Amino acid sequence: MISATDFIPSQYTHSIEEGNFQWSAPSNIALVKYWGKKDNQIPANPSVSFTLNNCKTITKLAFAKKNTSTALNIKDDFSFDLLFEGQSKEDFKPKIQKFLERIEIYLPFLKDYHFTIDTENTFPHSSGIASSASGMAALAMNLMSLEKVLNPEMTDEYFYQKASLLARLGSGSACRSVKGQVVVWGNHANISGSSDLFGVEFPNAVHANLKNFQDTILLVDKGEKQVSSTVGHDLMHNHPFAERRFAQAHENLDQLISIFESGNLDEFIKIVESEALTLHAMMMTSMPYFILMKPNTLEIINAIWKFRNKTKIPVCFTLDAGANVHVLYPENVAEKVLQFIKNELVGYCQNGQYICDEIGNGAVLI
Ligand code: DP6
Repeated sequence: MISATDFIPSQYTHSIEEGNFQWSAPSNIALVKYWGKKDNQIPANPSVSFTLNNCKTITKLAFAKKNTSTALNIKDDFSFDLLFEGQSKEDFKPKIQKFLERIEIYLPFLKDYHFTIDTENTFPHSSGIASSASGMAALAMNLMSLEKVLNPEMTDEYFYQKASLLARLGSGSACRSVKGQVVVWGNHANISGSSDLFGVEFPNAVHANLKNFQDTILLVDKGEKQVSSTVGHDLMHNHPFAERRFAQAHENLDQLISIFESGNLDEFIKIVESEALTLHAMMMTSMPYFILMKPNTLEIINAIWKFRNKTKIPVCFTLDAGANVHVLYPENVAEKVLQFIKNELVGYCQNGQYICDEIGNGAVLI
């Protein structure tokens, strides 16, 4: 089995003074949710997600070797500038600093360079869509491109596994944004190659019914979340239902393996909606307890159920750690579902805003 120490490099064979890379990495939407973690960003249960296509972070990483003659202690700390859409962004810096500290053991060259990280999202900044998954994945890809220059012999497999491992240390769900289209993160007895350390492409067959899935993200509430994911994960320690929940995630993923093979959309919908509501049930039964859904989240869920009952169109919802609703459906019903969204759901969205996305293939070097 692969262990984290396998990603600690020995001596590099090559060197580079300066240069830059640019990668885009997408967001992802979990079907079986990651909620609860152990030390070092090890998930309490395995999760699986669809990689998205349109909601992306694009990050350019410029690097220049520090001039060691100017100061003796110049290599003692990380040195980086952070730009968001071309403007200096001081408030993102502590998160990046912490990320660099966590990954330094895997990339021992980090203190040798000054970095300029220039990042932008394709989705509106205040949309309430978490940019940490796409953002951390894009940064991890760039750092791996640099490491590949220092060690050109590395395999593609190592490159992508390590990129995902680094992304995980930035934000757990980010490790599922490196690859597409269906990504599993976390050890699962019946998924070969699955690992707590990094995300892997779902190795089994995916039925045509579950390919080209669409995800329309209804922006219900764009405000700052009252409780961050990090705090929410933490509340799974000593949570009265935690152990049962973690076991259930294994069971649900097990069921999804057969569902991906059979393409049974009714069964798919049951698992996906139950996972979304279970995630929020965990929040409501934490101590302290909290609710991230808004009245319009519930209005939308009920409208989807009513529409599905009436039309038999296989459309369902999922939620992440917020009030927004992801509407999931196969491509061949897209026209009807989009009409339904425009007629009946847009009124529940803040400023009528929603984002049309679909399954995608993962990070791309630009
Ligand atoms: C509800 O990956 O944002 O979206 O590891 O603390 O950065 P950290 O948490 P994060 O948690 C995501 C939780 C979720 C479910 C999921 O994406 O699986």
